[in-house]
Amino acid sequence: MDMRPDPFVPPAPLPRTAPPGRLEIIRTILRNPLELWGEPSYTLPWIQTRFFRERTLIVNDPGLIRHVLVDNAVNYRMSDIRQLILRPILRDGLLTAEGDVWKRSRKAVAPVFTPRHANGFAGQMLRQSEDYARKYESAASGEGKVFEIAADMTELTFAILADTLFSGEIVTSSDSFADDVNALLHRMGRVDPMDLLRAPSWVPRVTRIGGQKVLDKFRSIVRQTMDARLARMQADRASTPDDFLTLLLDQAATGGLTDEEIEDNILTFIGAGHETTARALAWTLYCVANTPHIREAMEEEIDRVLSQDAEPVKWLDLMPYTRAAFEEALRLYPPAPSINRAAIADDRWTDAKGETVEIEAGVTVLIMPWTLHRHELYWDKPRAYVPERFLPENRGKIGRFQFLPFGAGPRVCIGATFALQEAVIALAVLMHRFRFDMTEQTKPWPVQKLTTQPQNGLPMRVTPRSFPKLA
Ligand code: HEM
Repeated sequence: MDMRPDPFVPPAPLPRTAPPGRLEIIRTILRNPLELWGEPSYTLPWIQTRFFRERTLIVNDPGLIRHVLVDNAVNYRMSDIRQLILRPILRDGLLTAEGDVWKRSRKAVAPVFTPRHANGFAGQMLRQSEDYARKYESAASGEGKVFEIAADMTELTFAILADTLFSGEIVTSSDSFADDVNALLHRMGRVDPMDLLRAPSWVPRVTRIGGQKVLDKFRSIVRQTMDARLARMQADRASTPDDFLTLLLDQAATGGLTDEEIEDNILTFIGAGHETTARALAWTLYCVANTPHIREAMEEEIDRVLSQDAEPVKWLDLMPYTRAAFEEALRLYPPAPSINRAAIADDRWTDAKGETVEIEAGVTVLIMPWTLHRHELYWDKPRAYVPERFLPENRGKIGRFQFLPFGAGPRVCIGATFALQEAVIALAVLMHRFRFDMTEQTKPWPVQKLTTQPQNGLPMRVTPRSFPKLA
């Protein structure tokens, strides 16, 4: 008899059984787009539909995904709705740039994100995680203390980003810079009813009122950061850190990027480079708190590797179970739940059974890790938290295009290796020292607000592991 406990099924909206009306669609998109999708999105390989008069193709079939993101990627640009939301904030940063500007920027920043270079960040990731763990030492009593883990993980990943890419030299006017980043993303980075109605960009978006002020403050911080570093480079180049910021600023001298593009990229990397990882870390701690046998297996692995004094750069390889627990959280709660494109010219794709999908020019293509990762055709027990599926011995069964937390093709996430390494190091440091447990208030509900995040946060009890538990 199989004595293993039933796998944990963490909270998520159930597929809709009937299509919503027009008003309900608008309400759901504004409240939580994850609640929009019906059964067909979780069971069919593709769906051709109309969304506010816009022809839309929802794609789950891994072959068709590969066609759009890789094989015929030149025929697909970023979709209008994504650009309408993100471009006013990030302008020509890497995430939102297209064509030649994108090509130049990707080439310019790529050296920092090669696996070999990213490995060099492991020491800083460890130091920042250890510093952050000190905050929890105040929880050093038998019963522990409740912390807001979603906010904490954002602070931690921001500290790692600021140290690794900017050598801690982001000029901040307040201690709450990470809060400012969040305010910016949440004010500006969401769908407004005017976006859905395709109103021109000069029509005010009520949901973003106040956002421009935050954005102006932010841009001024970025410019001050650039000026301070340029002054340092001019005064004493030899002692200036050879980091991402220096690499970007050097591009101005060589003509690789304009001053505006450098500014846009600094903002982009601050925005794209920490909240996503923070979300997945918080969801991992939540899932693990609900699965004692998984937590114990991780603790055993982490304690063993740490007792061997292995360098942090090796932890990702030495901790396959911890990595699997994180990847399974990325599957169930992909921080980027939707990857949107639009077809430039007419296109077609035929599956192995000879069925053909016609994709007309202008069609919006929705590739949604959210539905793909929970799809009945591609996953066994799709809604359950089962890290074992990501262990090296099982990993071969997961197709490259059925697991897309970082996207794929030329626009694949440039920070994927960085994020995985960071996540394993942070989890190892935190879980070696503390246990993260549920409280009565821990009732997260996933909402899509740019990233997939727990509505109302994630309060958890943090208890030092070495302390004897009270009966
Ligand atoms: C778990 C963490 C992360 C997740 C789930 C994630 C997810 C993604 C996804 C899905 C894309 C592709 C978007 C598309 O094709 O439309 C992307 C692109 C991008 N990501 Fe990440 N990301 C993560 C961490 C990071 C980190 C740590 C950085 C930087 C340090 C970063 C920087 C970027 C940038 C700049 C792009 C745009 C790349 C391009 O278009 O050339 N991301 N990310």
